[in-house]
Amino acid sequence: MHDVTLIPGDGIGPGITKTTLDILEAAGAPVRWHEHVAGVTAMETVGEPLPQATLASIEETRVALKGPLTTPIGSGFRSVNVALRKHFDLFANVRPAYTMLPGGRYEGVDLVIVRENTEGLYAGIEHYIGMENDPRACAESVMLITRFGSRRIVRFAFEYALSHGREKVTLVHKANILKYTQGLFLDVGREIAKEYEGRVVFDDKIVDNTAMQLVLDPYQFDVIVTENMFGDILSDQVAGLVGGLGFAPGANLGERAAIFEAVHGSAPDIAGKGIANPTSLLLAACLMLDHLDEAEVATRIRTALQQTFEARDALTADLGGSTSTVEFGAAVISRLDQAAVA
Ligand code: NAI
Ligand code: MG
Repeated sequence: MHDVTLIPGDGIGPGITKTTLDILEAAGAPVRWHEHVAGVTAMETVGEPLPQATLASIEETRVALKGPLTTPIGSGFRSVNVALRKHFDLFANVRPAYTMLPGGRYEGVDLVIVRENTEGLYAGIEHYIGMENDPRACAESVMLITRFGSRRIVRFAFEYALSHGREKVTLVHKANILKYTQGLFLDVGREIAKEYEGRVVFDDKIVDNTAMQLVLDPYQFDVIVTENMFGDILSDQVAGLVGGLGFAPGANLGERAAIFEAVHGSAPDIAGKGIANPTSLLLAACLMLDHLDEAEVATRIRTALQQTFEARDALTADLGGSTSTVEFGAAVISRLDQAAVA
């Protein structure tokens, strides 16, 4: 049995978490869950967005499955997701994207974004500069890039490529304009790439060109490694290539802990309706099972999911169908059962 901290999250979080747990249980995943709160749900029940008990549980289990957490826009408490990544130094955010539902815009897309998770503009070094009578006349955010942080994320991307049978790493940057910060990231990347010469192909691309190339020809990419904000933006774009945020899992990895989550947010526009697509969180749970050396269970779930999509008889609203979250879960479980019988 593996002990795992569970944070169901806000908005659609509890609904997609329930279905994900039902499927994991049906697949026989050997997990003992320790449920804790964070985000708006924690604010409402405990009075703080990231309670000590939640942090203590993750310290203990070192593995968490997390539903989406709502972050108030513009004001209010800072992102709990960012706080968790910083607290546990989860420097690598791995976001695989591959086509599961045939008949979309692109067939057979299969690529991975490795996003630096602790630095860049998202380090949260921000302040106002007052002028005359306006205390908010100007605002400044610092893009923090360190040699240490760049090295470990680029090295992580190469090691990931090697251990996952991937052939190419593309470093995405904006070093033409941001010569110091992005320039440092690119320089370090080129230096690390030399260590992998002959084993993994390396190239680099400017981020705006990358955005276009991803749409024109996503097949030229394999592993993309990039800094925090570009990784955030490109991973939603890449999710779009494979059918949307409903198909996008993510792993936040560091030395001390690993937190698995969907790339999407709490979807307030559909929360409470029971129609959210649980696939992203389920795929995140599969990444978690891989991490726990339970790859066999993960593969069984992925196969049942794939069969469910190929049959096209249980599509949630985001995919043009009318299947509810719970019905979708039942459809996947019925395929698990068939696989067990066969
Ligand atoms: P969002 O990802 O919640 O929603 C964007 C669009 O995608 C909406 O139309 C939504 O209905 C749809 N969508 C998202 N997930 C879906 C699913 N599983 N099934 C069907 N449709 C789905 O992004 P948004 O609206 O920008 O953010 C809402 C809240 O979520 C914000 O408070 C934001 O800070 C938070 N957020 C949290 C994240 C996390 O916990 N890792 C990541 C991204 C956003
Ligand atoms: Mg994002």
